[in-house]
Amino acid sequence: MRWHGRLARLARDSPRKRLFFLLALVKQAGVCAYGRGRKIGLATFAEATTVATIPAMRTMGSVVARRAELAEIFQLRWDVLRPGRAIEAARFPGDLAPETVHVGAFDGARNIACATATRVAWEGRAAWQLRGMGVAADWQKRGVGQLVLEELLELVRAAAVDVSLIWCNAREEAVEFYQKQGWRVASEKFHIEDVGPHFKMMRELRAEALPDAARETSAS
Ligand SMILES: CC(C)(COP(=O)(O)OP(=O)(O)OC[C@H]1O[C@@H](n2cnc3c(N)ncnc32)[C@H](O)[C@@H]1OP(=O)(O)O)[C@@H](O)C(=O)NCCC(=O)NCCS
Repeated sequence: MRWHGRLARLARDSPRKRLFFLLALVKQAGVCAYGRGRKIGLATFAEATTVATIPAMRTMGSVVARRAELAEIFQLRWDVLRPGRAIEAARFPGDLAPETVHVGAFDGARNIACATATRVAWEGRAAWQLRGMGVAADWQKRGVGQLVLEELLELVRAAAVDVSLIWCNAREEAVEFYQKQGWRVASEKFHIEDVGPHFKMMRELRAEALPDAARETSAS
């Protein structure tokens, strides 16, 4: 570019102009360092701004809810949701798919809650399916389930802007928990072998798709 040549000529003349030349080049390249969670890398200014607006985690006292690897949450999922069953019972289709989102809550190094979202359509609509929502017995009813679910919804909203719905097969005893998070029952009761009675439940992910009364809840 012509202005590069002009600046380069000026930069030869004085150290101050050399510094100015360097700054101009950095600005032109639009490159800066950013950090998100444990990931540090390089991004353009635009990318860095986008990343900065997405919270990397949620906290509640000593508890941190964040995106996790399957290996970090698998044992808890198995213990809470498939106790005493073979390991295969705790593996879900889509667990290893690249778009799948796993979230865990951690008290220090201990994993105390888990949830997973995989891409599974709902009645012909692109959607996420929530699976493996569980909280360690000694942490239940202390707000951790809500914390993990909020983090998961935020991550899936950001991961696929064209997907506006999430659904799950909710255990009968967990229906009220989901209702309190803005989900609604969307089926008759049905039975899943070796697990028990369930209802299909769903919720819209975008406030504009919700009735007015539900918009406040969706902001969470
Ligand atoms: C269901 C579960 C995920 C909820 O997580 P949690 O950490 O215990 O729930 P929270 O403390 O975040 O609860 C948030 C709200 O839901 C309510 N709630 C939680 N579990 C509830 C239940 N089983 N029945 C009715 N309300 C419930 C809480 O009282 C709280 O209400 P509030 O906002 O009015 O205070 C957890 O209890 C669990 O893992 N249970 C066993 C496994 C299971 O059933 N998983 C669901 C599979 S579909």
